[in-house]
Amino acid sequence: MSSAEEIKSKLDIVDVLREYIQVKAVGANFQALCPFHREKSPSFVISPDKQIWHCFGCGKGGDVLSFVQEMEGLSFPDTLRLLAPKAGVILKYESSQEYSKRGRILDCLQAAAKQGQYWLENDATGKKMKAYLLKRGLTEETLKEWQVGYNPDTWTAMIEYLRTQKFKDEEIFAAGLAGRSDRGSAYDRFRDRITFPIKDVSGNIIAFTARINPDKEQTIPGGKYINSPQTDVYDKSRVLFALDKAKKAIKERGFAIVVEGQMDAIACHQHGFSNAVASSGTALTAEQLLLLKRFTNNLALSFDMDNAGQLAADRGIREAMALDINLKIITLSEEYKDPDQCLQANPEDFKQAVINSRPVMEYYFDKITTGKDLSKLVDKKEVVRLMLNMIVKLANKIDQEFWFKRLAESTGVSEQILRESVVVSKSTSGQTVPKTEIKAPVVAEATVNRDERLADILLAILLKAPTYIPYATSHLEPEDILLENLSQFYKNLIIYYNKFDVLEYDSFRLYLQEQDDKSIDIVDRLALLAERDYYDYDDNALKSELSKVLLELKRFSLKRRIKKLQDQIGIAEAGSDKIDINDLMTEIKNLTEQLNSLHSL
Ligand code: UTP
Ligand code: MN
Repeated sequence: MSSAEEIKSKLDIVDVLREYIQVKAVGANFQALCPFHREKSPSFVISPDKQIWHCFGCGKGGDVLSFVQEMEGLSFPDTLRLLAPKAGVILKYESSQEYSKRGRILDCLQAAAKQGQYWLENDATGKKMKAYLLKRGLTEETLKEWQVGYNPDTWTAMIEYLRTQKFKDEEIFAAGLAGRSDRGSAYDRFRDRITFPIKDVSGNIIAFTARINPDKEQTIPGGKYINSPQTDVYDKSRVLFALDKAKKAIKERGFAIVVEGQMDAIACHQHGFSNAVASSGTALTAEQLLLLKRFTNNLALSFDMDNAGQLAADRGIREAMALDINLKIITLSEEYKDPDQCLQANPEDFKQAVINSRPVMEYYFDKITTGKDLSKLVDKKEVVRLMLNMIVKLANKIDQEFWFKRLAESTGVSEQILRESVVVSKSTSGQTVPKTEIKAPVVAEATVNRDERLADILLAILLKAPTYIPYATSHLEPEDILLENLSQFYKNLIIYYNKFDVLEYDSFRLYLQEQDDKSIDIVDRLALLAERDYYDYDDNALKSELSKVLLELKRFSLKRRIKKLQDQIGIAEAGSDKIDINDLMTEIKNLTEQLNSLHSL
């Protein structure tokens, strides 16, 4: 019996699902409101008999494993990891190299966190850093709970420590803990920094964020905070700092507080706002929002957004509105730079600010009408323009309706005119679905090799950094790849990513297996290729490599198509075929123009 089967056999589906949703016995089955789509009457059914669930509303269904996987946003292996203790099953991972490789990386990160904690207590500078953190109001307990650490001001202390713990250099790199200098030597990525582990939803350490030694803040160039690079276990767009600790409180309290900085999140938790997570200083991504949506549909944002323009331009806010998430904005009084400062000075102020948080549209409406005189035509037009811009972003028709009315009332412009002023932009689906299968033409051996190698690199990079799949798709179609199995693999990547919005190696592999897809044969090879050649590439380096590869593949593809058309002309001229040569010539001309204008992406 596989570990997965064993876990399933030892767990009762109803018991497990009860931890996530409210279930009600109806006859021999159980019913619930589906947690995967919005509904008012329950169409989610659990069969204790068959140990399966299905939602007749959205069509999703599966077993206890797929439910927990979807709910927690985990990969399949992580789902097993999470459930194994509950089922009293000890996982046997030896059977799969992949599982143990991931396990090694997680262990390595864990060891690094432990050692960082040791240095915060025992290294001379570490002690100073600890004093600094205590002075900033963090308690001893908080430091322990968040496993805050320090990495000494040397080039390789951490690497050397991890070696003594029997971690191989490649594992240390794969964990993102080491960088490589221009001359090729390895160095500690987080030297002379205060380190905060970043954990996934189930609490595994998957990366670090590290704050500069405050004594060096003025003198050292570069970021105040640096993060682990993208690794096999860390995809920054899919992680929210503190979500592992906050998820329970988020469910209980019915909303999440989203702050910008890690220090803000930690301070929130220390002061009892344990439903706080941090976006780590960037706009919220769709993936992060979907992750939060598993726990609540209500977010209160405490972002530094002083003007309305900033708010309207924020990608995260637009994304959240499109996902029909209820957004509120927390406004701190002017004297505080961020939640951390507010909490240090007066926690009660923060509490009031949370209580007084306002729905994003109201907040925005207030901001843009402040200082405007709506009886003046110019002001009126300006306000209408700005508001309509936001109203169209609302995913929910009822919200839209409400705001059309409200805007009509306050501006005196009729609702009908307001509605008519909205230009409906036709949404193109944005999905590149391959239409035709191409037969690989016969080309010179060398070309095949080069082409194949490029396609290999493309796919390896995309496996490593799946968030670039849409970028790749917008420049290169599966048909542009010559070799059929590689083209097929690319197609699978696109389909999978479009469907799930994320791509985790393990789950993708299982998906291919389940599809019984031939391209399963090359997935391991490509993943290892990325491992071997790109383990130390950061986001930017990967992207620039990717652009080069896409460009060259596109060139190859255009040249191939031109050659094919030329061959057809040859055949047409030789034979009596009445093919319109002019059409072929025009197409060649078009393709040649495309080719010549293809300098960069
Ligand atoms: P802030 O500059 O507001 O820092 O950046 P902070 O959180 O108040 O930091 P402290 O209080 O001085 O320690 C907010 C967030 O933006 C990200 C970090 O996630 C930070 O918490 N950030 C900031 C970076 O990633 N890099 C930077 O160089 C600066
Ligand atoms: Mn701060």
